[in-house]
Amino acid sequence: MELLVAGGLFGAYALPPVSGKDELRKWFLDNVYGHAPLGRPADMAFTGNRILFGGGRLKVDLTVSLPPGASKEKPCPVLVMGDFRTWNNGMRGDEKSLKQKRQQEDLDAHAASRGYALIHYDLNEAAPDQPRRQELERLKKQGKPLPPCPYGLFDIYGGGDDRTETSWGTIRAWAWCHSRVLDWIETQPMLDAKRVAVLGHSRLGKTALCAGVTDGRFKVVYSNASGCGGAKLNRMPLPRSEHIGQIVDRFPYWFCKRFNVWKNRDAEIAHDQDEWMGLIASPTRYLYVASGSEDHWAGPQGEKAAAEGAAKAWEALGLTGMGGHVGYHCHKGPHDLGVRDLKLFLDFCDTRL
Ligand code: GCU
Repeated sequence: MELLVAGGLFGAYALPPVSGKDELRKWFLDNVYGHAPLGRPADMAFTGNRILFGGGRLKVDLTVSLPPGASKEKPCPVLVMGDFRTWNNGMRGDEKSLKQKRQQEDLDAHAASRGYALIHYDLNEAAPDQPRRQELERLKKQGKPLPPCPYGLFDIYGGGDDRTETSWGTIRAWAWCHSRVLDWIETQPMLDAKRVAVLGHSRLGKTALCAGVTDGRFKVVYSNASGCGGAKLNRMPLPRSEHIGQIVDRFPYWFCKRFNVWKNRDAEIAHDQDEWMGLIASPTRYLYVASGSEDHWAGPQGEKAAAEGAAKAWEALGLTGMGGHVGYHCHKGPHDLGVRDLKLFLDFCDTRL
């Protein structure tokens, strides 16, 4: 098979299929999400529930909800997620935002009632959910002086204006920030840093998977309705679901530039999302995927099939895939993550996390 020929089967810049876990992870970072420029930064500091980057130029505030009775003697398992304020580029007073806020509070309360701490935060503080130019226009319109790092982590660690083909996109940057939250958790005596799950809905489900694949400290990884670029198979023909061409046109900044090479070539992509999720496989790590039956844009059939495909990576280790190390449910209804989903996910975690 011809692989790396300019304009040939895999296009001028796309990389050919690979074998081996490290190569596969690199393939996905090269082609889809981009590479984080660094691991734990030397210029990061913690103060209370706040993470400071770049010597204090950028702050990320964590909302920490603890279960009753959490103590240093009995540290509790933790759930980490980007919260609903990430939508609409931040909370507004409108009905949609208020509904999202209430939804988040319901999740916090349910997690606490089950003995889990839930940490959530607005990922816009880490990296705005906008292309750079739009974000700067938005800030200028407010008429206030620009903050020290208007484009978040990119302004400190690079990959904004100086973006290369494989520089991190926003999903990779958000996932990297989840890892920094885990660094923070490791300093908290009431939280058990060895029992941490990362989860998220939709764009934040794509982010949770990216965090799970790139940071082995997350023990359980839960993607809810993450669709294209998340848990949905690209190669499966699902005409009502989002395709690569649509996602890179609307959200080019979420991915690395090279992802454009796969535009309108979903069926022939060299590696698919089941392989991406399969990279989480190990005897001590778990994957959970959930969908909504009416969520045609995210493609529930493609998400289920990808979870089943990923489960094979655990089976290859002699472990039980679906129903063992991998869980799946599909709620009846649209695109959301509610208490009914968290409840099923925590049933899965109760015996695994
Ligand atoms: C858009 C986008 C999806 C994404 C979703 C969300 O619909 O096309 O890929 O998952 O927003 O994050 O809500």
